[in-house]
Amino acid sequence: MTATENLKARRAAAVAVGVATRGIYAERAENAELWDVDGKRFIDFAAGIAVNNTGHRHPKLMEAVAAQSNAFTHTCFHVAPYEGYIALAERLNTATPGDFDKKTMLVTTGAEAVENAVKMARAYTDRSGVIAFSGAFHGRTLMGMALCGKVTPYKKAFGAMPPEVLHAPFPNEFHGVTVEQSLAVLDNMFKSSIDPERVAAMIIEPVQGEGGFNIAQPEFLRALRKICDDYGIVLIADEVQAGIARTGKLFAFEHAGVAADLVTMAKGLAGGFPLSAVTGRAEIVDAAPVGGIGGTYAGNPLAVAAANAVFDVIEEENLCARATEIGDMIKGRLTDIAARQGMEAIGDVRGLGAMIAFELVTDRQTNAPDPALTQAIVAEAEARGLIILPCGTRANAVRLLPPLTTPMEHVEEALDILEASIEAAINSTAQAAE
Ligand SMILES: Cc1ncc(COP(=O)(O)O)c(C=O)c1O
Repeated sequence: MTATENLKARRAAAVAVGVATRGIYAERAENAELWDVDGKRFIDFAAGIAVNNTGHRHPKLMEAVAAQSNAFTHTCFHVAPYEGYIALAERLNTATPGDFDKKTMLVTTGAEAVENAVKMARAYTDRSGVIAFSGAFHGRTLMGMALCGKVTPYKKAFGAMPPEVLHAPFPNEFHGVTVEQSLAVLDNMFKSSIDPERVAAMIIEPVQGEGGFNIAQPEFLRALRKICDDYGIVLIADEVQAGIARTGKLFAFEHAGVAADLVTMAKGLAGGFPLSAVTGRAEIVDAAPVGGIGGTYAGNPLAVAAANAVFDVIEEENLCARATEIGDMIKGRLTDIAARQGMEAIGDVRGLGAMIAFELVTDRQTNAPDPALTQAIVAEAEARGLIILPCGTRANAVRLLPPLTTPMEHVEEALDILEASIEAAINSTAQAAE
């Protein structure tokens, strides 16, 4: 029995089924490489689902965390606050889009950041409604899952959702939903389902993560900004997956040239340590009463030290530019592959910066999804030493999330593996059909 087989058996016996897992059991990782418990090497284009933007174990992060662990590891910010938290808040208040006074709170997970942003918006507006979008992913807590725009598996089996959470269509021209249609549904929603003056917040991912790396058009985000201004609705940018240099800008909303009122961040924020944040208009953040927000572990000192180092590394290593450079290379190669004869299964290649996906279809005319081919490509890549992830509401997109510190020779190696995996998966699917 290999070490992996042994862990798989122990995992099956001891760990909840509902916690989805892949078959790669990690032993160690360094920048864009990961080795499993049997010594097999992988290039990691999942980056812990957009977390290790600065690579695995960036030396600067490791030093910062080691230094902090020699001072203290936990006091609870509510009991004995510390400078690192305040310094990070100052940094986020400056770094997030929007030329207005801002404040920040730190928590631990992306879902928790979303929960707290909604709480702040409700406290500020004294309203309760929240509008999210189809295909959205905002986490697995009660409000987080209610906001998700995908039923299975996120809401299925978990009972009643909180009231006054509505979904408008996320524009997706590849699937025939235009910006105008989305805005028309939203307008109709205000006439048929909820008075806009009951809506506290509207929450949107500028690039949908789990939903399939669908990019919100800048004009759509600008239109939402106007609607929110017209009705006094708090606009929340969920930058948990797209933020922190991933799309070639520090925050993906910057591509649209408008600012949200609140920004949620997590994942890349602390480069592998659990930390999330809500940053936004000071008066909205401060609407939550003293003691109404926070948490025992919220803003953990080790994670905060890592996050402060992440921002240093982004600046020093020019990671926004690197995201664009790596993303352009991947997108260019995938576009070339998709143009080749026999590659008609690749229906779409899209992305912003180093947040790239391609969608697999059975027919380019109808764009009917091919989730089986998607799974086959992911499995082929894994067998050949490349970690990639599926995504999309129709489970037919492959997403690529390389660390922004990936050396170019590893990007090239990964693309060679990816191309071979796509070819092998398409050929074996074709043979099976014969
Ligand atoms: C856009 C977005 N929001 C929220 C979350 C939830 O974050 P977490 O899993 O840390 O709770 C995720 C996680 O994938 C996400 O992509």
